[in-house]
Amino acid sequence: MTAHGQQRGRADDPVPGADLDAARIPGHWLLARLGKKVLRPGGVELTRWMLDTLRIEPTDQVVELAPGLGATARLTLARGPAGYVGIDRDSAAIATLASQPWPAATRVRWHTADAASTGLPGASATVVYGEAMLTMQPGPAKRRIVAEAHRLLGPAGRYGIHELCLVPGDLDPALAGEIRAALSEAIHVGARPLTVPQWHELVTGAGFTVTAQITTPMHLLEPRRLITDEGLAGTLGIISRTMRDAPSRRRMLQMHGVFRRYRAHLAAVGLVAVRA
Ligand SMILES: C[S@@+](CC[C@H](N)C(=O)[O-])C[C@H]1O[C@@H](n2cnc3c(N)ncnc32)[C@H](O)[C@@H]1O
Repeated sequence: MTAHGQQRGRADDPVPGADLDAARIPGHWLLARLGKKVLRPGGVELTRWMLDTLRIEPTDQVVELAPGLGATARLTLARGPAGYVGIDRDSAAIATLASQPWPAATRVRWHTADAASTGLPGASATVVYGEAMLTMQPGPAKRRIVAEAHRLLGPAGRYGIHELCLVPGDLDPALAGEIRAALSEAIHVGARPLTVPQWHELVTGAGFTVTAQITTPMHLLEPRRLITDEGLAGTLGIISRTMRDAPSRRRMLQMHGVFRRYRAHLAAVGLVAVRA
């Protein structure tokens, strides 16, 4: 585990994957390079639902798994928890986060580590959450990460997830396999979304009780969602950068095409659970 304390500094750090060309870079870092800050399927609205439902308060010790560009970290820190630790396996993402200014009211720390093995002490958190990160793990890694969240939380600790899901709950396994393959091909990262019952099973199987659930349409690249998530100026910037670069444009069209083709079977899911 590589640690960074609270630091202040550079405003325009490169996004992770800066050395990869647009044809090969993972989809989330391509979006980040084009200026997208919100990299999760349910957008800011589902994130706000998750944070509201987790009831983050000034006494809380929060661990965020896979903060990426830190967009949710900002919303969490605005709630003034006592402590916040962000764990991401991408050292460039962590270095960028550690170089930014964060509110002084919270003790903020950043670590480069795998979410399945954070290196943090057991029962050191009251709230743990992660967004758009379990979807990209194979089954055993998903289970290890949820077990690590359980280990990090003390009794009555709250756990939140925000991920991609397949609908309906009894989706034909052959179609589910086809969708996973098409998504993985488009975003260049193994995409393994589960159905809502399977997400429940994953979380309850680690010893949590699910207390709240939401599903919303998977509109990550739809114009209305882009404006909600990124603002009008942000959206225009993303569009203009995409139009100016042919390889990025091809990737964006490919990702958007897959999301559209399978839109009847893709959704975003949020679950909040409590540790017994
Ligand atoms: C799609 S981005 C989502 C970022 C952020 N949570 C958000 O919603 O905007 C995926 C992030 O998960 C991180 N990640 C993926 N697998 C991880 C793992 N096993 N441990 C820690 N971080 C991981 C990646 O480095 C990346 O920052």
